Formats: sequence, C-alpha cells, structure tokens
Amino acid sequence: MKNPFVFGDVVKGEYFTNREDELKELTSDLSSGQNILLFSPRRYGKTSLIMKILDNLKKEGIIPIYVDLFRITSAHTFIKIYTAAITKATATRLDEAVQFLKTNFPSVVPKVVIKASEPTEFEFDFEAAKKDIDKVLDDLYELPQKIAAKRRKQLVVVFDEFQEITTLNLPIERSLRAKIQHHDKVAYCFMGSKRHLLDELFLDKNKPLYRIAKSVPLDKIKPEKLKIFIRSRFKSIDMAIGENLIDELLRLTACHPYYTQQLCHEIFNVCFSKKEANIITLKDIKIAKDKCISAQSYAYSTIWDGLAGKQKDLLLALTLNPEANIYSQEFLSEHELGAPATVQTAVKALEKKGLLDRANGSYSISDVFFEEWIKRKIA
Ligand SMILES: Nc1ncnc2c1ncn2[C@@H]1O[C@H](COP(=O)(O)OP(=O)(O)O)[C@@H](O)[C@H]1O
Ligand SMILES: [Mg+2]
Repeated sequence: MKNPFVFGDVVKGEYFTNREDELKELTSDLSSGQNILLFSPRRYGKTSLIMKILDNLKKEGIIPIYVDLFRITSAHTFIKIYTAAITKATATRLDEAVQFLKTNFPSVVPKVVIKASEPTEFEFDFEAAKKDIDKVLDDLYELPQKIAAKRRKQLVVVFDEFQEITTLNLPIERSLRAKIQHHDKVAYCFMGSKRHLLDELFLDKNKPLYRIAKSVPLDKIKPEKLKIFIRSRFKSIDMAIGENLIDELLRLTACHPYYTQQLCHEIFNVCFSKKEANIITLKDIKIAKDKCISAQSYAYSTIWDGLAGKQKDLLLALTLNPEANIYSQEFLSEHELGAPATVQTAVKALEKKGLLDRANGSYSISDVFFEEWIKRKIA
C-alpha cells in the first residue's frame, strides 16, 4: 500500500493541500507583471506552491521559466543553469534548442546534451573566454524580454533560492536590476529561505534590488486546513484518526508542513505493520515521533557538538519558552543569557546554520524534532 504522506521535495496532486489564497494572489500578481519576493523558512512549501502557480500561468498562455539556484557555485554555473532553464521552457526539440542557442548566444559555443527522458530535458554547457562572461551575462539578462517580444507572450521567471547568488564573487544584482526594470513583458519571482541574506539583498536602500519586488511572506498551513488534509489522507487508505490525536500530532509539529507530512508518514508505517492497522492510537504517534528523532539523532549530536556555549544556551532556553521574546529582560535573566548583544551574535550564527527561523517577528527552532531531541537532553 502506498504511503499517503510524502516529505522531501515538491509535492503535487493529492499530496498538496490548501494554499488557495496564495495561489490566487500570486497567480494574479505574476500574470499582471508584478515582481514578487516570496520568502519563508525552509520547507514551508515555496517550491511546491510556485510549481502549481507556474502550471496555472502556463494554462493562461504565459511562458514559465523556473531557475533553481540552489547549486550555483560560479558565474559559469549560473549561466549554465539559467540558459538551460530558458531553453527548456522555450524549445521542445533538440534542433530548436541548438538553433535557439546559436541565435541568442553568438559569443559562446554551446554544447547541448539531450537526455532520453519525457518531457525532453536539456543539459547545456559552453566555453567562453573570461573576458566574454560579462557580455554573456548581459545577453542572458535581456533574453526573457526578447523572447516575450518575439513570441508576443508574457513570461514569468522564477529564481528559487535566490539568496545563493551572494555566494558568488560577482555582483549579479546590479546588472540584473539595470535590465529587468525595463522588462514590461516579464514578471520575476525571487524566492528564498535564508532570511538574513534576503534582507541584505532586498531591504537595504543602498542595494540594487531594493524595492524591485512585492514582499510576500509564506506562512505555515493553517491548522484547520491541515486537519482536513490529515484526516482525509488517512481515510483514503481506511485508517481512522481521532480529532484529539490530530491535535496532538499538530502540537508536535507546530503545523510545519514538512514535519507534519514526515510524522504522518511514519505513523502510517507504524500502523501498517500492526494488527489493528486501521485505528491510530496515541501510542502509534509516540512511536512514530521517536522514529523521526532517532533517524536524525546522529546528525543532531554532530550539530550540537559544533555549537558554541551561548548558542546551546539560547536553544535550550527556547525549548523551555518557545513563544518568548528572546530579547526581553525577563527571558534574558531567567535563562542567564547575558546582554542582548551576546544573544544577537548567537542568533545570527544559528540563523546562518539554518537552525533558527524568524517568522512573524519571533524565533523558533527550525526542526521540530531537533527541538524534541534538545528537550530530552534536559529532561
Ligand atoms: N501545500 C502543501 N501541502 C502538503 N504538504 C506540503 C505543502 N507544502 C509543503 N509541504 C510539505 O513540505 C515539504 C517541503 O516543501 P517544499 O515545497 O520543498 O518547501 P520549500 O521550497 O519552502 O523548502 C514537502 O515535501 C511536503 O512534505
Ligand atoms: Mg524549495
């Protein structure tokens, strides 16, 4: 029997729930040419959401281009990934792709690899002299608007994990802004999860991308909506779960989309192998939770051992007072955390490591099972 819950990458179809308001708003914004900055902590569902939006936009006749910057390491890989995404969205056959690259990038020699997959996938590589890189980049930034004009269609370009451009020794933002501010037929959607880096890119008045896009924070999924999803997914495989157990489960995962799917996934596994498989109990939930924690306990120990004392203190304090204002005098003195400046340094370091999230003005430990693991240390 197939597990009705999945966690990891993009979810689609029956595995995807809710987000109706966001779907409506963002589809309408992007199709009107509005640039967007869509941000949330990791694993809240940005990529899954944008994929659905791009499907909608495609049905409206807009050309969607999805660029995942997660793995960029250099200007060379940026060009490779961006070009491949544009080519993939606009050419369906190899000869089309080659022609497209020849026309648009006369300065480079493209090397196209076609993969035997359906739909067709292109891999693209090129050789360009170092001095040509700026020229290639300039052509590339201009390309979406050119395509839009030529095809008389609108385009939407999504840069997922956009903050990764800060890892390059290349000020992409300035030249990108210079070009895209004139692109009236293209809407750009910048997405990201590293808040401290996004703030630097988009909130600083002196930075090129300041005010280029409308900020849209993506929240967790509302408990009412998650409850319906959980109940109906279990029901689809004839498993029943009581209301109070769903509440308990969501309390454990704090309605975090990823961890909720992970815990439900494990609950299914636990129940599937027991006698009365169709009735879920509190004990099953506890076993499933333990599985989620123990699957990561080696990684958690390694992370913990690598933390500075102040960082550990702050995490411990947060497990005891999850909703606290961490800079308040009360919190600082109760947990003996020292001066606000010291805490700020610890916060920055923990954010950088991806262990702490900031949403709606307060901080929380990103991984709910890591939080449980820490709690057990002090129990
Ligand atoms: N709308 C949703 N419905 C159900 N599960 C979701 C939804 N959005 C996210 N998830 C869960 O979270 C996981 C991570 O989603 P993803 O789109 O990769 O997040 P992000 O891009 O923000 O890191 C998914 O694999 C899925 O388990
Ligand atoms: Mg993502």
